[in-house]
Amino acid sequence: MADEAVNLPGPAAETAEWSALAALAAANERHDVRASLADSERQSRLVVEACGLRADFTRQLCDVPTLDLLLALARTQEVGRSAAAMFRGEHVNATQDRPALHTALRIPPGESLVVGAIDVAVGVHSELDRMASFCDAVAAGERVGHNGKKFTAVVNIGIGGSNLGPRMATEALRPFAATGLDVRFVSNVDPADLDRALTGLDPETTLFVICSKSFTTLETLTNAKAARAWLISGAGGDESAVGAQMVAVSTGEDEVAEFGIDPKESMFGFWDWVGGRYSVGSAVGLTLMLSIGPDNFRAFLAGMREMDEHFASAPPESNLPLLLGLIWLWNGSIFGHETAAVLPYSSDLREFPMYLQQLDMESNGKSVRADGTPVGVQTGPVVWGDAGTDSQHSFHQLLHQGTRVVPCDLIGFAKAARAGDQDRQDLLTANMVAQAEALSVGRTVDEVGGDPTLAPHRTFPGGRPVTVILAEQLDPRTLGRLIALYEHKVFVQAAIWGINPFDQWGVDLGKELAGVIAPELAGENVAGDHDPSTEALLDAVRQLRSH
Ligand code: F6P
Repeated sequence: MADEAVNLPGPAAETAEWSALAALAAANERHDVRASLADSERQSRLVVEACGLRADFTRQLCDVPTLDLLLALARTQEVGRSAAAMFRGEHVNATQDRPALHTALRIPPGESLVVGAIDVAVGVHSELDRMASFCDAVAAGERVGHNGKKFTAVVNIGIGGSNLGPRMATEALRPFAATGLDVRFVSNVDPADLDRALTGLDPETTLFVICSKSFTTLETLTNAKAARAWLISGAGGDESAVGAQMVAVSTGEDEVAEFGIDPKESMFGFWDWVGGRYSVGSAVGLTLMLSIGPDNFRAFLAGMREMDEHFASAPPESNLPLLLGLIWLWNGSIFGHETAAVLPYSSDLREFPMYLQQLDMESNGKSVRADGTPVGVQTGPVVWGDAGTDSQHSFHQLLHQGTRVVPCDLIGFAKAARAGDQDRQDLLTANMVAQAEALSVGRTVDEVGGDPTLAPHRTFPGGRPVTVILAEQLDPRTLGRLIALYEHKVFVQAAIWGINPFDQWGVDLGKELAGVIAPELAGENVAGDHDPSTEALLDAVRQLRSH
């Protein structure tokens, strides 16, 4: 086991700070948010600006003494020491005995980071340069399809971290698309997904990016094989289309070669110390770079780096990821709210909640600490959300008046990303501000007035925990800052609980069983050694598929 496990702080719930926080939450005595909004000390402590982001925690059920207790908890649990260990490249991913060095992907040119006698920054920049040359060559029509035609479309095939990050970021940065390529993403092994992505595309001008850290993932390899067949058939059986029109992003050189892609010519690599869900700044971002161009991609990395530096060096009281992590912990682990909603007021950022679902839940959906002992408190919440204002017309009713309390992060931008769209942007922002106010301030019976029989229906309790994160504009740098903010938020919570946020053993069992079941569905190797319910379900599927 690595240093991190050896130096693990004690269980969070056994600290004096945790007991005091739990007592505060139980007594529910400090939670008149409406009254506390006028408190100027609270205002100055709970609004933090850093890296172009303004985070407003004033609508949280948290006063200054609570905040101080949360900060004391972070100190006791040595969040700063853990973060420093991560940044240095120690084996903080103890169960896989490796570092978690996604922050090294954002190191600027000229700086070095020596880990185990290797300057990892050298490899990072050499791969970034290769990616940039490739993207430039595609944009310039120098790297072309098998019959010399310029590429018009890119299809990224990958799943989980090899899909969600680049997909979300490509969508979020559509106004910065620099190359005119039609960029599409395929993740699901459902044939409908590839089918939809290929609709209308020309096999002679489509480039495939097969993105898989392991290059063994069932969904990705199955889709990649189907895409290869589509390419070859479109090329009239000419297999040279594969070499010309498929590139790989992976850490598995042998697996890539076995698939039929030349690792020297057409593979972009990264390292086992980059977790899938933390990989968008690596070669996994190749499709994003193909869309927005290398300069915008470098601005995206620079934004991440700004947040890394801030997290590593800002004092706790003004440290944005630390405070965001503490507020999430307060709501989820201490108040016990089961879910957390993330609501970007940006259609371009619509996929951010889905991206965060993997980042947060695959990282912090754990029950044991890094040393294998039970964590003993609630860990990561169920993360969900959608873009405002659409969300207002679907599930906000429950947020405002439901019996369950759902803490919300509202994320908004003051300026439109597209020229001439400011009026509609203002309407969007007005809605975000209105939701923040309504959720936290609510409306009392006295304020409702009118028909008294309707008053119970028309009152709003308020006091719903809301964080508002505001930036000037959604651009590559800002998106990078936002992603790194949430990465480090996840880390802060994990460090307090003492869990390892960088492994994901929980996804293995389903993968293993699917591997056994797939041939059984087709009637092969039917061993009959599943539980009775599973056997009956398999029989039902076999019967239906044979009709
Ligand atoms: O779902 C588990 C997982 O391992 C994720 O962590 C990862 O992002 C995804 O599968 C895809 O893995 P790969 O990039 O190796 O295909």
